[in-house]
Amino acid sequence: PMVRELFGLNELGGRIRKHFGLKQVIIVPGDSDTSPHTKKELGRAGAAVLRKYVSKDEVIAVTGGSTMAEVAYHLSSSTSLKGSWFVPARGGLGESVDFQANTIASTMAKKTGASYRLLHVPDQLGEDAYQSLMQDTTITEIIEFIRKARIVIHGIGEAMVMARRRKVDDATTASLLHEGALAEAFGYYFDRGGRIIHKMPTVGLRIDDIQEMDCVIGVAGGKSKGEAIVSVLSFGHEDILVTDEAAAIEMVQML
Ligand code: G3H
Repeated sequence: PMVRELFGLNELGGRIRKHFGLKQVIIVPGDSDTSPHTKKELGRAGAAVLRKYVSKDEVIAVTGGSTMAEVAYHLSSSTSLKGSWFVPARGGLGESVDFQANTIASTMAKKTGASYRLLHVPDQLGEDAYQSLMQDTTITEIIEFIRKARIVIHGIGEAMVMARRRKVDDATTASLLHEGALAEAFGYYFDRGGRIIHKMPTVGLRIDDIQEMDCVIGVAGGKSKGEAIVSVLSFGHEDILVTDEAAAIEMVQML
């Protein structure tokens, strides 16, 4: 509350934008951890930002999660998005169906009148399964298509929350803890300095694809995610952040 008294939402956004060299920071009032209304507003703001930054006939990569589901819900029929393709950023992260990137990509396409392509890969891919998948031309072709994306919109999670939700095995969870994992985004785990310390074994966008994107949009809110958001922003490849007041207040106290 003290920080709020000192800085309005615009000042908070400005400090975060300057610190991380972002193009734009949007902050909705409230705390998504405790307010379903704030989470919806976060989704609405994410949808508006996506409409704003998509140029004609693009491939748009999206991740899964409950926040992205809210973004999808708030998209509507749009001439600017009609010629575009929604695709999942990466496949098989162990999410329940509603939160899978495939589900979000198809919902976004249906809502906007755009097209979509899906990536069907099993969860918890072993090395042998990975090698045989990469022999399958329907899979390699869709991966090539996904890698054409110049824009990605993604959620950010707390590392341990995501590891639990996706039923990551005990040995991997222990090593994530040991390495100081704080955040997860697009199947990569990040430490406090924004270094990647673990990569979920699946296919889709690679980290260098993300580094080379024109527009990386992160959408994440809630007081509990402040530290995770700072960690992903420290990775240094985000362009736009859509967040909420509670997360932003946590974040500025860490800068
Ligand atoms: O990668 C992070 C997760 O997709 C975030 O999920 O929006 O349900 O917290 P969430």
